[in-house]
Amino acid sequence: MSTATETTVQMLNVQIDGVWTQVPAGTRVIEACQTAGKFVPHYCYHPKLSSPGNCRMCLIEMGMPKMGPDRKPELGEDGKPIIGWIPRPQISCAQNVAEGMGIRTDSQMVQECRHGVMEFLLINHPLDCPICDQAGECRLQEFSVEYGNAESRFLDEKVKKPKKVELGPRITLDDERCILCSRCIRFSKEIAKDDVLGFVDRGSYSTLTCHPGKKLENNYSLNTVDICPVGALTSNDFRFKMRVWFLKETKSICTGCATGCNTIIGSREDKIYRQTPRENEEVNSCWMCDHGRLDFHYLHREDRLKTPKIRRGNTLVDATWKDAYDAAALALKKFSGEQIAILASARATNEELYLVQRLAAALKPTVIDVIARPGEADGILVSADRNSNTNGARLFKITGETPGSHTPVLAEKVNNGTVKALICLGENPLDAGIKPEALAKLGAFVVMNILPDAATPQAHVVLPSAGFAEKRGTMINGKGRLQRLNAAIRPPGQAQVDWEILRDLILALTGQNGIYTIEELFKQMAAETKPLSGLSLAGVGDQGTLLAL
Ligand code: SF4
Ligand code: SF4
Ligand code: FES
Repeated sequence: MSTATETTVQMLNVQIDGVWTQVPAGTRVIEACQTAGKFVPHYCYHPKLSSPGNCRMCLIEMGMPKMGPDRKPELGEDGKPIIGWIPRPQISCAQNVAEGMGIRTDSQMVQECRHGVMEFLLINHPLDCPICDQAGECRLQEFSVEYGNAESRFLDEKVKKPKKVELGPRITLDDERCILCSRCIRFSKEIAKDDVLGFVDRGSYSTLTCHPGKKLENNYSLNTVDICPVGALTSNDFRFKMRVWFLKETKSICTGCATGCNTIIGSREDKIYRQTPRENEEVNSCWMCDHGRLDFHYLHREDRLKTPKIRRGNTLVDATWKDAYDAAALALKKFSGEQIAILASARATNEELYLVQRLAAALKPTVIDVIARPGEADGILVSADRNSNTNGARLFKITGETPGSHTPVLAEKVNNGTVKALICLGENPLDAGIKPEALAKLGAFVVMNILPDAATPQAHVVLPSAGFAEKRGTMINGKGRLQRLNAAIRPPGQAQVDWEILRDLILALTGQNGIYTIEELFKQMAAETKPLSGLSLAGVGDQGTLLAL
C-alpha cells in the first residue's frame, strides 16, 4: 500500500526504434531515447535548461497508435499498438513522451534531416577549426563527421559577423561561429538570474550580443563557455593556451567555499590550464562560479615555497626535510602545552585535520582553532562559508560549533606573550589578529604553507606544502557530503603533501609512525571517527558520500 509521502510515477509504453520500453511520464522524448541507448544529436537542448527547439538537430520520426473505429488502438500481431507515423520529422527535445508513442531515431528520413541541418548550420560557419579553442570537443566538428556531408554545395560569400567581441571581462565571442542555439541566453536568464544576452537581426544575420548597457560579467559567466556547443564563446583565461586533447583530466572538487563544486582539472606537465564543472546533482548540478573556476593560478606563482627552511640568526636558510623536522621538534619541545598554540585551517583536508588532532594530542596546546571566512551566499552556488572544510575542522575538534571563536583568544595569548610557540598550518597569523612584533618574540614559530606571507620571514621553520590540486584527500562540504580531492599536478620543488609533513612532524616530536599511504591514513581516520566508520577512500566515490554528522 502506498503511503501519503510516496509519489507514484506513471510509466508509459513507448516504442523506440522498434523496441517497446517503459518511460516515466514527463520524460522528454530526447531523454527517453538516451535512456534506451539511442543517442539523438542535439545542439540547443540542455537537460538543465528550457527547450526552445531552435537548432533542429534532434529531428526524429514520431508516431502515435492507429485508432480503430472503436477509438481503441489497433493491435499488431505482437499484441502491441500499430503506430501511425507522422509523415514529417519532429523535434525530440521540446515534447514529452505519450502512451503508445513510436519513435524512430535512425530512419532514412531522420538521416536525411540530419544531413540537411548540418549543411544548413555550416553554410556560414567559418572553417577555422585549426585555430579554434573548441576543436577537440566541438559538437559541430563531431556531428559534421558523424551526420554531415563531405562537401559543401555553398558557392556564395559567407556572412561576415563580428569577431573578437568582449562580452564581459572573462568572455570573448566570435559571432561567426555561433549557431544560434541560445543555450548561453537561457543559462544566463534561467540559472545565473542575469538576463543579459539576446539575439539581434534576423535570418543569416542574427547575431548574439549583450542587451544595451549590459555586460556578461556575472560570477557564473564562464559556464556559458562550457555549454556553448561550438567555439563561439571562449574563456579569456584559456583561449589559445592549450589544445584540449593534450589536457589530462583529473576529477576533483573546488575548495573556494563550503559548496565544494565538483570539477575536472585540465592539466599538462604539472601546469593547470583550466577547471571545468563536473556534474553532481547533490552539489553543483553542472555549474561552478567563475571565482572558484579561475582560482588556481596562485599554484603557479614564482614565489611558491619550494624548499624547507630553518632560521640561522636573522635569516631563513634552505635545509633538508630531516633538518627542518628536527629543528621544529627541538624548538617546540622547549615549551609546555600552556605555552603552545596551533592555528590550523578549515581549508585543510580531513586527513590533515585528523593528523593536526594527533599533533594537538601530543603537544596539548593551550588553544587551537581555525580562521573563519564568512561571506555572503549568492542563492545559487556560492556558500556563505568561504572555507571548504569547516565541517571537517569541527569533526576533528580543531574548531567548535562557531568556527574561529577561539582565534581571538589565541591571538591575544600570542600578543601578550603567554604563548611562546606557535604552529601555523596553512594560514597567515596576521589574519588572525596576531601582531608582527609578537611573532618576532616567539620562541618557536613553525609555518607550513604553500606561499609566503608577511609573517613567513619571522618563522623559525618553514615547511613548504601542497596546493589543492597537488594532493589527495577528502573534505566535508557545508551539507555534510564527504568528497575527494585528487592530485592533478605535482607540488613544485621539494614541497610535500601536507599530510606527509604532519606525519613526519609528529614522528620527529613523538616517534609515532606507521602511515605510508593516504588510503591507510583514511582507514585509520575512519576507524576512529564515527561518521566515517566503514568507509574507505575508494568507497567515497566520484560523487561523494553524505555523512550523518
Ligand atoms: S554563442 Fe554558443 S551557446 Fe550562445 S547561442 Fe551561439 S552557439 Fe549557442
Ligand atoms: S561556488 Fe564555491 S565551491 Fe563552487 S566553484 Fe564557486 S567557490 Fe568553488
Ligand atoms: S536540440 Fe532539439 S531543436 Fe535543438
